[in-house]
Amino acid sequence: MTEPSRLRESVTARTLAQSLDMTAVLGRVGPMYASLARDLQRLVEDGAVAADARMPSERVLARVLGVSRVTVASAYRELREQGVLTSVHGAGTFVVPRSDTRPWGRLVTGDGPDVLEFVNAAPPASSFLGAAYEAAARGIATTSAHPGYVPGGAFRLREAIARRYTARGLPTTADQIMITAGATDAIHAVVAALVGPGNRVLVEHPTYPGALDTLRAVGATCIPVALDPSDPDAFVDAADRAARQHDPVLAYLMPDHANPSGTVLPTDTRRRLAATLHRRGVVTVIDEVSVDLDLDGHGPTEPFGAPVPDRAAVTVGSLSKSVWGGLRVGWVRADAAHLAAVATVYSARQLTVSLIDQYAAIELLGDYEAVVAHRCDQLRASRDALTSALTRSLPDWSFRSPSGGLSLWCTLPAGERSTELVDRARERGLMLAPGTRFGTGYAFDDCQRIPFTRTPEEIEDAVAVLAELMGGANAGPRERVPSRAVPEAVV
Ligand SMILES: Cc1ncc(COP(=O)(O)O)c(C=O)c1O
Repeated sequence: MTEPSRLRESVTARTLAQSLDMTAVLGRVGPMYASLARDLQRLVEDGAVAADARMPSERVLARVLGVSRVTVASAYRELREQGVLTSVHGAGTFVVPRSDTRPWGRLVTGDGPDVLEFVNAAPPASSFLGAAYEAAARGIATTSAHPGYVPGGAFRLREAIARRYTARGLPTTADQIMITAGATDAIHAVVAALVGPGNRVLVEHPTYPGALDTLRAVGATCIPVALDPSDPDAFVDAADRAARQHDPVLAYLMPDHANPSGTVLPTDTRRRLAATLHRRGVVTVIDEVSVDLDLDGHGPTEPFGAPVPDRAAVTVGSLSKSVWGGLRVGWVRADAAHLAAVATVYSARQLTVSLIDQYAAIELLGDYEAVVAHRCDQLRASRDALTSALTRSLPDWSFRSPSGGLSLWCTLPAGERSTELVDRARERGLMLAPGTRFGTGYAFDDCQRIPFTRTPEEIEDAVAVLAELMGGANAGPRERVPSRAVPEAVV
């Protein structure tokens, strides 16, 4: 657990007052302090109050809410007893960071044939991969005199990536691209270059766990901004408010088929968001690993950075989702100043990205429309299998069928907890990542991500296990071998 003395975030009484519905708090039967405690806990669980945050003093909160100090003191006491708050003598009252007792850090890749691995949203290797590597191997054979180190990345690859940005409406040259070993390396390098301990970073909420881990590792505080897939416009105002209140250095966003929610920000929304964040002096890191996974043929949306100056947005991408996670080729696209800072950090830890991988990537980008179309066909079939199996077998789960990406983000029926469901599913050989992995603090224990990166048959099996666990009527019995594996790192 973080030392309270090192906690930085404070939530003001006014912010709490704006977020609480006091008419509801005062109107419930039962003690008022219990009602207040319940709604404060809800704010923590929703991420509106960050784990780690310092709560306002009892006196100030009581005054601002117009209730007695005893009511607030009793609500705080209740939340302390439930382990949500902690008080430190002389320092104040803090939200207790959610303690993850699991040793996160190892990627679960399945634990034998009987395990249904639905932790990761990682599709199988593209059928174009083998031929690309064969061509790459031939290319390597003819360049054996080359020392093999290509700092920044192979020029032809950078050129091919720059051409794709230009074609999408974001004019780009090869010298604005730096090649990395996957988007993970790209995010690491960008964060290490631009974020320092104590800096605040806006993250859409829910968000990609790997980004949260990276940001926390450099000592940044993640400020969650709620993203409701059915109302993306509200996100712009929420981001504006958060930028005003928290003075972040960076925002980390996935405007195209976000992980896990699948949200695509419409053109107008992303234009307003880009302009708002730029006006507030926030550099936006745009994660585009899923940008090409447009399953319903809506066509590409204007790149986030197109309407703002180049220095306002740094974009990261990779071939991990369209081709394969085992092909470690990603990149950073940025203006000269940001790219120089990122390259300085990256070159201190990595001399070059594997040349044969880069050559294979050049081959794949040469026929990229076909590569993407094939991947989208697979994902569409799996998405449709998942949505119909869920509708049939788990009608009280709610979800929005995403137009792209790799996963479904479901809301569980009232009272169900993802952390408990994940534990029970594991006993039946079905591995899932808990909803809480996609939030800061306590949020999303009522949500479950289900990737649609496995075959329709495996998806049917996984939903059958879930239906059985939830007591669904249509579930057939299925014996599974208990698994030793524990979901840790999540992609
Ligand atoms: C949003 C997002 N960014 C980055 C990554 C990591 O990608 P890579 O395998 O290219 O490092 C993932 C993997 O799931 C992801 O979902």
